[in-house]
Amino acid sequence: MCGIVGYVGNQKAAPFLIEGMKRLEYRGYDSAGIATIENGEFKVIKRVGRVSNLEKENLFQLQSTIGIGHTRWATHGGVTDANAHPHTSECIALIHNGVIENYDSIKNMLMYEGYHFKSETDSEVLCYLIDYYYKYKAEPLKDSVRHALQKVHGTFGIVVMSNKDPNTLIAARRGSPLICGLGTKEAIVASDVSAIISRTKNVVYLNDNEFAIITPDTFELRTIEDDEQVNVKVDSVNWNIEDSDMGKYSSYMEKEIYEQPKALKNAMRGRFSEDVSNTKFGGLNLTAEELKKVKRIIFCGCGTALHACLVTEYLIEKFARVPVECEYASEFRYKNCPVDENTLFIVMSQSGETIDTLSALREAKQKGFKVLAINNSVGSSIAREADGGIYQHVGPEIGVASTKAFTSQVLIGSMLALYLARQRDMSYDEGVKFVETLKTIPKIVRSFLDNKKEIEKIKQIAQKYSDCTSMYFLGRLSLHPIAMEGALKLKELSYIHAEAYPSAEMKHGPIALVNDKFVAVIISSKDMLLKNVSSMQEIKARGGNIIAVLTDDISILKELTDDVITIPACDGSILPIMATIPLQLLALYAAQHKGCDVDKPRNLAKSVTVE
Ligand code: BG6
Repeated sequence: MCGIVGYVGNQKAAPFLIEGMKRLEYRGYDSAGIATIENGEFKVIKRVGRVSNLEKENLFQLQSTIGIGHTRWATHGGVTDANAHPHTSECIALIHNGVIENYDSIKNMLMYEGYHFKSETDSEVLCYLIDYYYKYKAEPLKDSVRHALQKVHGTFGIVVMSNKDPNTLIAARRGSPLICGLGTKEAIVASDVSAIISRTKNVVYLNDNEFAIITPDTFELRTIEDDEQVNVKVDSVNWNIEDSDMGKYSSYMEKEIYEQPKALKNAMRGRFSEDVSNTKFGGLNLTAEELKKVKRIIFCGCGTALHACLVTEYLIEKFARVPVECEYASEFRYKNCPVDENTLFIVMSQSGETIDTLSALREAKQKGFKVLAINNSVGSSIAREADGGIYQHVGPEIGVASTKAFTSQVLIGSMLALYLARQRDMSYDEGVKFVETLKTIPKIVRSFLDNKKEIEKIKQIAQKYSDCTSMYFLGRLSLHPIAMEGALKLKELSYIHAEAYPSAEMKHGPIALVNDKFVAVIISSKDMLLKNVSSMQEIKARGGNIIAVLTDDISILKELTDDVITIPACDGSILPIMATIPLQLLALYAAQHKGCDVDKPRNLAKSVTVE
């Protein structure tokens, strides 16, 4: 997904655009560009690569108090300067986040009208279509944008300006997130609040099919279809810009790994019942009676969020005895699952903007499901469209590979399992014990992260295996999704091929790959050890290498492992969270040792807002 930002006010626009684009760069970093209006002419500076490349240009010469900026995650057209945004015509400059599906037919119409294209992008087609209405139909800017958008199929978050009207920005959305920050005699439009809150915390979240006419002093919201006025609802952002600074850490990912004790505490804050035998959630919008009637739960998510769904499936089935299914959000809409009225639909999404998960939510609502969202972004599309939900409250997550959002999603999953279990057969005493256990997790994670000796050992192990070509992560029961998360982290960050299996599944095929170059990471607690030992023996018997992640109440036979990472022993309900931390660090250190950019891994983006 791309990051888009626009500024109109009484200050020079360029510095704000650059600062905003840096904060949005985790959304896409193939190329970056800005456009301002200098003496009635567009000034466009765009380059392949990072925002920092633009800073090498003499931006100080830009005096304009209006401008637009873009960081790209390529969809249509290669990673070239020409395909970088902003795109301009004679009168219009545009930045776009999303995909125009019918751009080809529109392009043919425009070429017939004499337009010559400089790029391969769908976005340039939209720019020229607006120009067509503006120049040949002589329509005011807002109507040119509106009529052009009525012609396009697909998703968009756009900001448009005209060199004939250097005091107005037009912003519009359908499917891609767009927020406008209202300051004093200035306004900033952006894909997310991190690019806005250094200037103001007063924000307006645009809904689908709305567009805004923005000047330094005025903000007007209207519908694209009928040009009707829309009431403006101003929200206030509840976190500070410092929360999204890297501080003393070498990367946002490292910072967010070390923030997990605090993040887990925040995710639990104020969510235990007075009698401390249960959890409580303020935003479910479902009565206890409605929840008690639930006979089946379907979870949906993408990437790391799906792994959190899979751990929660295990915990809800174990403690609340309610059948749970987990679906890839990208498949759910097209799968046409059988439904019945006692089925609850829950989506998990850190960003709340992942289009596959948003589409699954919309499909579930169409089918009459009650939809809950476990989400970390207040005001996100998923948060606003779900019937109810649980906010994660872990603060902004900037590192593209998810860490604190994952462990807090698993924690909230455990808390939901307790809530549903206490409604069913779990006793008061069992509930009190479960709550006490949950409250211990921030301290246990802190004790592990403060264990310098163990952290240093993980660094050594990561460096030792960083040139291997592939790794297999094995775990049983609730630790199988954790093995999947470990494999995903290693793939995302170090580009080492990795797969995950339930430990015993090895002997049904993957064991064919075992030789002296083969590396397996086996995650186990004491009660799962016996079963995992047989998998270790099968791998060792064929010369494979084993990194064991074991709780500290286990003493294992030396010859069964090559390297051991020890984690604090803890209750099975919170073990998945504890076992994740060393796998996050293993991937981080392997990637750092290989010189990979851990915050902006190649080809990835923090939230994917195109299908
Ligand atoms: C991917 C991110 O784009 O989307 C992953 O790189 C993330 O880290 C996945 O897990 C789902 O994102 P979200 O925001 O819906 O949880």
